Amino acid sequence: MNLSIFGTGYVGLVTGACFAEMGNKVTCIDIDEKKINQLKKGEVPIYEPGLEGLVSSNCHQNRLTFTTSSSDGVKNSNIYVIAVGTPMGENGEANLNYVFNVAKIIGQQLSETSIIINKSTVPVGTAQRVKDIIQVELNKRNYKCKFSVVSNPEFLKEGDAIRDFMHPDRIVIGTDNEDTERVMRNLYSSFTMKNNRILIMGIKEAELTKYAANAMLATKISFINEIATICEKLDIDVDEVRKGIGSDNRIGYSFIYPGCGYGGSCFPKDVKALIYTSIQAGIDPVLLKSVELRNEIQKELMVNQIFEKFGDDLSGLKFSIWGLSFKPGTDDMREAPSLTIIEKLIGAGAIIHAHDPVAIHEVKKNIPTAWQSKLFCSEGDQYSIINNSDALLLITEWKMYRNPDFNKLKTLLKNPIIFDGRNQYSPQELKEIGFIYKGVGR
Ligand SMILES: NC(=O)c1ccc[n+]([C@@H]2O[C@H](COP(=O)([O-])OP(=O)(O)OC[C@H]3O[C@@H](n4cnc5c(N)ncnc54)[C@H](O)[C@@H]3O)[C@@H](O)[C@H]2O)c1
Repeated sequence: MNLSIFGTGYVGLVTGACFAEMGNKVTCIDIDEKKINQLKKGEVPIYEPGLEGLVSSNCHQNRLTFTTSSSDGVKNSNIYVIAVGTPMGENGEANLNYVFNVAKIIGQQLSETSIIINKSTVPVGTAQRVKDIIQVELNKRNYKCKFSVVSNPEFLKEGDAIRDFMHPDRIVIGTDNEDTERVMRNLYSSFTMKNNRILIMGIKEAELTKYAANAMLATKISFINEIATICEKLDIDVDEVRKGIGSDNRIGYSFIYPGCGYGGSCFPKDVKALIYTSIQAGIDPVLLKSVELRNEIQKELMVNQIFEKFGDDLSGLKFSIWGLSFKPGTDDMREAPSLTIIEKLIGAGAIIHAHDPVAIHEVKKNIPTAWQSKLFCSEGDQYSIINNSDALLLITEWKMYRNPDFNKLKTLLKNPIIFDGRNQYSPQELKEIGFIYKGVGR
């Protein structure tokens, strides 16, 4: 099949590379010239394990091409995928401007019976609005052409995106058209050979499924974070409680690790957008509001622990941070808890030396001027940043930080203090070798 994908970010590029890998001919379109030029040169602008190899082999076999020109990008194609960003709007709503711009462009180019697949995370009713925009453009041209708009939300995880796309838990397809359903089943058949994991449903149901899934995962995280707070007050080991509840199949072990809050480009904005949708529908989303509030509290937890230990004025103190990206396996810094922590510590006068294996270039892109003489970043040796720090803060649980040389750390730190924002280390062991340890709920 011939596909044109609008938006060459995390979702668009992974989708394009994976569909091309299955023998389809894919053109990825983006308005970001720098990104497209990089991709044309074989450079992948984001860090995603396995993506570079996949992009490169499919480009060499002429199944995957990149362009900034929408008219070139849609030639010979009758399947259009929308994978542009839907960032948070001023009031927490999803900003749909990018989606609607693409709908307009598609309406201006459409020349034969086509399917428009919406992969961006969008509120209920968006497919209908996309359909209306395309129709308006067709009317302007006085052109008659059949088309249908499908909701096909994406569930991939950054850091594991290729595996998730190639071996999906499920493929949600929201459509009201039988011919479209058949084409969509064909398109995804290569990913569902072993197991038929395609769920066909109504368009609005598919749109809401994506928000409900992210809100559920965010809820699990906020839930365990609240349990961790209770554990701390009652002097209970939260890790034992975590295992005790995770072993129940109905609950499961995923997403119940206490930590310094969720971040990324999805959970924060999607929970907010669902709150907005609920309020618009006349519902007070008490649970979702609490999920969000608990996360805000959680992002400040480590800062409060530091204030408790060192006082509110951190002038003259230096802190080392391990891990900046919002989670391991990605360079994505969007809504990363590390940013909140760094902002508060620098605001209180501290100097920060931070290490991350892949996200430093992303941090440097958006660093506020006020941080420039206060935040120093490195992706080299993780121990080289420690030099005489007043404490070490673990924020992102990259594997390389899991089993550090604590004796070496002790000699490098001014004070043997660790703030463990992801409960990676054993408090007992650290205390035995002379560390002061503060984790989440312990
Ligand atoms: N990142 C994830 O893990 C993930 C997972 C599932 C779903 N989603 C959803 O998928 C959507 C895309 O997310 P992302 O993380 O890939 O975003 P992104 O910001 O990484 O990429 C979006 C891309 O769209 C491009 N773009 C904007 N307007 C365009 C236009 N008119 N034509 C062509 N390109 C255009 C931008 O330049 C950018 O490169 C969002 O709705 C997001 O919520 C993201």
